[in-house]
Amino acid sequence: MPDELVNLTIDGVPVGVPKGTLVIEAAKQAGVLVPHYCYHPGLPVAGLCRMCLVEIEQQPKLAIACATQAAEGMVVKTQSAAAKSARTGVLEFLLINHPLDCPICDQAGECELQDFTFQEGRAGTRYSPDYPKRFNPVEDFGPDVLYVPNRCILCTRCVRFMEDVAREPVLNVSERGDRAYIGVHPEARLDHPWAGNVVDLCPVGSLLSKDFLHKARAWELDKSASVCTGCSQGCNITLDTRENVVVRVRPRPNLDVNRYFMCDHGRMNYRWMNRGDRIEAPLVKRGGELHATDWEDAFERVTTVLRGAGPRVVALVSPRASTEALFFARELFRGLDWTGAFQAVMGEEVPLAGVPDLALRAERVPNGRGAELLGYGREYAAALAAAESAAVVLVLDEPDIPVRAAGALIYVGTVLPERAREADVVLPIANVAEEEGTFVNRDGRVQRYAQAKPAPGMARPAWWVFSELGAALGHGGSVGSAAEAFERVARAIEGFRGLSYEQLGFAGKPVAVAVPA
Ligand code: SF4
Ligand code: SF4
Ligand code: FES
Repeated sequence: MPDELVNLTIDGVPVGVPKGTLVIEAAKQAGVLVPHYCYHPGLPVAGLCRMCLVEIEQQPKLAIACATQAAEGMVVKTQSAAAKSARTGVLEFLLINHPLDCPICDQAGECELQDFTFQEGRAGTRYSPDYPKRFNPVEDFGPDVLYVPNRCILCTRCVRFMEDVAREPVLNVSERGDRAYIGVHPEARLDHPWAGNVVDLCPVGSLLSKDFLHKARAWELDKSASVCTGCSQGCNITLDTRENVVVRVRPRPNLDVNRYFMCDHGRMNYRWMNRGDRIEAPLVKRGGELHATDWEDAFERVTTVLRGAGPRVVALVSPRASTEALFFARELFRGLDWTGAFQAVMGEEVPLAGVPDLALRAERVPNGRGAELLGYGREYAAALAAAESAAVVLVLDEPDIPVRAAGALIYVGTVLPERAREADVVLPIANVAEEEGTFVNRDGRVQRYAQAKPAPGMARPAWWVFSELGAALGHGGSVGSAAEAFERVARAIEGFRGLSYEQLGFAGKPVAVAVPA
């Protein structure tokens, strides 16, 4: 049954929202951001900061938009003189003890206290410059979290996250009144595997990531929508780059996958994207040694090998490769007897207790499901054994390479493991931060990731490399973009039929086949 709608007006804009919607959420639909601190859509409502005060016609007092439900015929004014003056008052109280730390604070540039003070705070303080502001030393809360109490506005988002979402209530509000601060349990640390979310949730620079500390100013960062490669959950993330180096990973809201959160394993899983020891040019074997060459020469070598290949071909692929790359790789073997396999690193499953269906999954790779849908199996050891007697072995960014016994070895990868030095041809490819593509998560959801930085040297996306090779072998034309590559997948593979990059957007869509649990 469709939700019952209520109609209301917010700052003169009429909106219809499902019954039960909070005014603060209804306002978003009217294009109005009601200033707020304690409210967060992923946490239970606390209604304590009073920053979201708005005027509602026919109500005698101002109301907090975060705890008031939209009602039929309601007329909400967020910009009335009374509402603005109340919020200016709240800001003035918050700033009494807040230090002038912005020039050295990691949050500056993305701080809600800065933003709302700029938007509607007083131009100056009414306190004497000699007023001694409250001072408490910085505390080490856990493996990646520092607490700067002087900047804390006591919104309790961090407390509620640990209590209601992580269900490990190690934080509390200690003391009362102007002496209040966030306390950590005397016998505990903030070391829950999902604890890093408190840093994102903190609206000011009070909770800081040690990993990101003083690495960049917010305005120096470029942001790209991506998908975490840490496990098969497929959390939506943003990659923050500074001068083409990934410096921070943060969750990107997706209510169907990760809501507003990500785990610490995923958050820290980015340094390899900045590795400097990359393959930067195609390499071909001449006189027993690998020599750098151009793409044309390298392609010629690979097509010669594949044209003359005996019937048995083995592909050992990485489940971190994009769906597009995995598709075009298997297209190379059309008409041949081929086996393809991947191996997934496994670990412990760590759920986020307060969110159903969200966990750091035991399978620590992002595209195992995609590889399966494209016909690759999980019998890696068997494929490795078969590779020893195969006519051609193609390895896609997988360090576990067979000892060379037979046949030709083509290695397509980001870095060059020792065994790959045995290859006849080495082709350099982009990593996930350097290309566009898609992964299919454990629930069969196809999700796009965008390019965040350039690939080094002559490295190219793997889908491009394989599509060019396919075209040279006469298996259809090459493709010029990741979107076009995905169109080819969608045309050829049942589960992807009807999908396109445009349709997927950056929230993703389920594949069209039933995915076994
Ligand atoms: S540390 Fe941050 S999230 Fe926690 S109460 Fe203070 S301001 Fe709010
Ligand atoms: S749960 Fe998995 S996908 Fe999500 S952030 Fe953690 S490692 Fe990444
Ligand atoms: S956001 Fe509404 S009271 Fe804090």
